[in-house]
Amino acid sequence: MATSVIVSWMILGLFMAISTTQVEAAARAFFVFGDSLVDNGNNNYLATTARADSPPYGIDTPSRRPTGRFSNGKNIPDFISDALGSEPTLPYLSPELKGDKLLVGANFASAGIGILNDTGIQFINIIRMFRQFQYFEEYQTRLADLVGYDEAQRIVRDALVLITVGGNDFVNNYYLVPFSARSRQFNVPDYVRYLISEYRKLLMRLYELGARRVLVTGTGPLGCVPAELAMRSLSGQCAPELMAAAALYNPQLVEMVNGLNSQLGANIFIAANTQQQTKDFITNPGAYGFTTSKIACCGQGPYNGLGLCTPYSNLCPNRDEYAFWDPFHPSERANGIIVDMILKGSTDHMSPMNLSTFLALDTMTKT
Ligand SMILES: *[C@@H]1O[C@H](CO)[C@@H](O)[C@H](O)[C@H]1NC(C)=O
Ligand SMILES: *[C@@H]1O[C@H](CO)[C@@H](O)[C@H](O)[C@H]1NC(C)=O
Repeated sequence: MATSVIVSWMILGLFMAISTTQVEAAARAFFVFGDSLVDNGNNNYLATTARADSPPYGIDTPSRRPTGRFSNGKNIPDFISDALGSEPTLPYLSPELKGDKLLVGANFASAGIGILNDTGIQFINIIRMFRQFQYFEEYQTRLADLVGYDEAQRIVRDALVLITVGGNDFVNNYYLVPFSARSRQFNVPDYVRYLISEYRKLLMRLYELGARRVLVTGTGPLGCVPAELAMRSLSGQCAPELMAAAALYNPQLVEMVNGLNSQLGANIFIAANTQQQTKDFITNPGAYGFTTSKIACCGQGPYNGLGLCTPYSNLCPNRDEYAFWDPFHPSERANGIIVDMILKGSTDHMSPMNLSTFLALDTMTKT
């Protein structure tokens, strides 16, 4: 008897757990656009060198296998999915993204891309922003086939959207080679203004496609990543020209986002000051439990910052002690800290509000 009571409680518990997950997954979908910081594996399906599909990528996932994420474990979208109570978003190109999985959302991001079409040109076959948006339209058609047109529109309107793009327009375009075509065309302040005006068009396009809750991230402190320390720094100081570019870019991004909100008469966009966020743990890694924010866990050469992270690279034993997993990308633990700041951060980090407040607002104003 006792056993059957326990069993039925367990079944009830299980049932409740299942129905809660379904309700939450159906309540808010999650769409992701951008570059390698948020790519969940689309590039695995493409003929490109910008990919993270070989060990030791993914070494700290349950399967210990690479997934296409540029992380030892979870990336930024994964931690946001956790906060939403959803499963991770599938790459749009994954054959598994069909049927009910469409309700979770989709990840359209592609490593190597930038705001501009000619960014990451050396990676050849990647999904540039305009193409990510075409796929989003295609997704919406597939979703409407599944749940009907009105319901599909509601899902998109209520969804959280993340867009992370812009870093590559500096490191894989303007600063890719000395005297790059872009750097001969624009001085840095003009280039930043140009990028911001093109980013604004991307955000308007997302709005036209039905997005109403959009989290926009800035660039990290570009000059401090191990790759730039290895290439540009003799003494371990962050590369000044990239720091200066990021310092111009990030505040203008926040301003542009706030301007769009007032133009649209609603808080459609929130901006994460990822520069400030990552600067915090780059200047004071110990405060966040990191042993270093200069040396990548996986790589080779000075700061483990040269070349790619491959099976032949140096690999640190404890990934949680490193702010950077590879020469460009944060470790799983650093990604968790970044998302925590996005969720709970003060207005220094988040403008005009943090993600928790943004999502709660949404719930209150719904119906
Ligand atoms: C990028 O290419 C697409 C497709 O050719 C085009 O529609 C778009 O305007 C281009 N964007 C920029 C910034 O040139
Ligand atoms: C988010 O921002 C609000 C307003 O700035 C602040 O009161 C709150 O403590 C922050 N954190 C969470 C989890 O809401």
